[in-house]
Amino acid sequence: QISGLTLQSFLVFCTAFIVACFLLKPRRNLPPYPAGRVPVLGHLLALGRAPHLKLTAWRRQYGDVFTVRMGMEDVVVLNGYAAVKDALVDRSELFASRPPNYLADAMVGFGKDIAFARWGTEFRQRKRFATAVLKNLGMKGGTGSIEEKIREEASCLRNRIAEYNGNPSDIAHDIRVAAANVICSMVMGKRYDYRDETFRELSEAVEMAQFESGAGQIISVFPFLRFVPVVNRAGINALQEAFKIQNVLKGEISRHRENLDRENPRDFLDFCLLEVEKQEKVEGLTEVHVVYMAEDLFFAGLSTTTDTLRWSLLYMTLNPNIQNKVQQELDAVVGESLPTLSHRSQLPYVNACLLEVMRIRPVVPLTIQHAPTETLKVREYDIPKGTQVLPNLYSLHMDPAYWPDPDRFDPGRFLDAEGNVVNNPDSFMPFSGGRRVCLGEQLARMELFLFFSTLLQSFTFRTPEDAPRPTTDGVFGITLPPHPFKLCAIPR
Ligand code: HEM
Repeated sequence: QISGLTLQSFLVFCTAFIVACFLLKPRRNLPPYPAGRVPVLGHLLALGRAPHLKLTAWRRQYGDVFTVRMGMEDVVVLNGYAAVKDALVDRSELFASRPPNYLADAMVGFGKDIAFARWGTEFRQRKRFATAVLKNLGMKGGTGSIEEKIREEASCLRNRIAEYNGNPSDIAHDIRVAAANVICSMVMGKRYDYRDETFRELSEAVEMAQFESGAGQIISVFPFLRFVPVVNRAGINALQEAFKIQNVLKGEISRHRENLDRENPRDFLDFCLLEVEKQEKVEGLTEVHVVYMAEDLFFAGLSTTTDTLRWSLLYMTLNPNIQNKVQQELDAVVGESLPTLSHRSQLPYVNACLLEVMRIRPVVPLTIQHAPTETLKVREYDIPKGTQVLPNLYSLHMDPAYWPDPDRFDPGRFLDAEGNVVNNPDSFMPFSGGRRVCLGEQLARMELFLFFSTLLQSFTFRTPEDAPRPTTDGVFGITLPPHPFKLCAIPR
């Protein structure tokens, strides 16, 4: 009887305790799930081939903050300027980490680079240092400056396109080669002949690594699949391509070490090798880090610039009147000489066109995943520490409250009443913002301006006769390029 009573009391006590814990536990108010979630896959099917469009459409139904289920992982999506600015800019450090991404991490030495490194002192020192090096290289004037190198590349690209004699051609590859050479010049101090074997290997490896890592993201969604080689084929290929890039960079680092001029660092690798020796600004920086940091510049800087330039030419072919205005401005300000950065401030319409291209087709529409460093609130919702967070930049650029008739290509949006460029309007963040803002923003802006103005000065771009009007839908992947298209570059 006594032991029965004791057992009964014990059970009642346990039940009461569990119920109390449940009731007293602080309730988390997690962002809602949109409809369409299915077991195992979550929202993957509902997101379809253009997740940025679907997420932007869901914003209208579910508000600025919601959760999508990607396989086994919850991902919080932030939409609209207010929510994205609140997280990325106003509380920048709290949102500045990255969540684990097995494939991306493996391609960059598990945190030894910049783009995928977790938030912390090492990341901050590396990013600050790399930003200062790029700025230093960008400001260096005269022969050998980054501007000179981009201008040289722009004129090579112009000559290459002239060889098509106005015939229909897809110039995506030519643009990519030019953009790759700019990064080679900046990182290793030399441009390559387009037929050079190492150069071909390097630029193809970057392209393939990105392609395969896009396909290989299945293992980020279902991490256990990385142990199944048949399923993880793309992941394995991506890693092999990354090793090729790393090998080219290691070879270059050895050559740079042999003839390092300590008084006159020439390029990114020189600056890094000096820092490896001195350890002044980045504690613990080794040549291994240098390989991964340089690899980042190829991964992050090549497709982004190439895609944006391709979009700019596509929108010119679709809008002959706008193209005509760009050319008139170039003729009046630059004339026959090769455009320079000093012309930039005198060419508001050219600048406005490029800004409008980046608004209407941001090539990194969902940034790289962020992760909060502590549990925090956005609006009324709790976001647990370490959750994957995707800021939807596309939703900012397509918000009719800021951009009336957002699907219309209209450079005039970026000009004020006096015809001056409005460079940083609200609800416009093609390079993201805060602590994780794009490292190459200034370089990209220089490249886009010099390439675009040189090409538009030399050619009128048209859709080939009898060809269907090219689509302005993008191909969602690691970046957002246009579908392949042909154009005729008619010499002016
Ligand atoms: C990151 C855009 C060109 C290097 C990013 C991010 C965006 C972006 C949206 C993600 C930021 C985030 O996670 O919140 C662009 C666009 C470009 C461009 C639109 C050209 C039109 C470049 C170039 C380079 C570069 C030319 C360097 C050569 C990087 C790096 C990161 C990054 C290293 C990672 C930064 C970090 O994690 O802190 N970029 N980018 N990007 N970009 Fe760019």
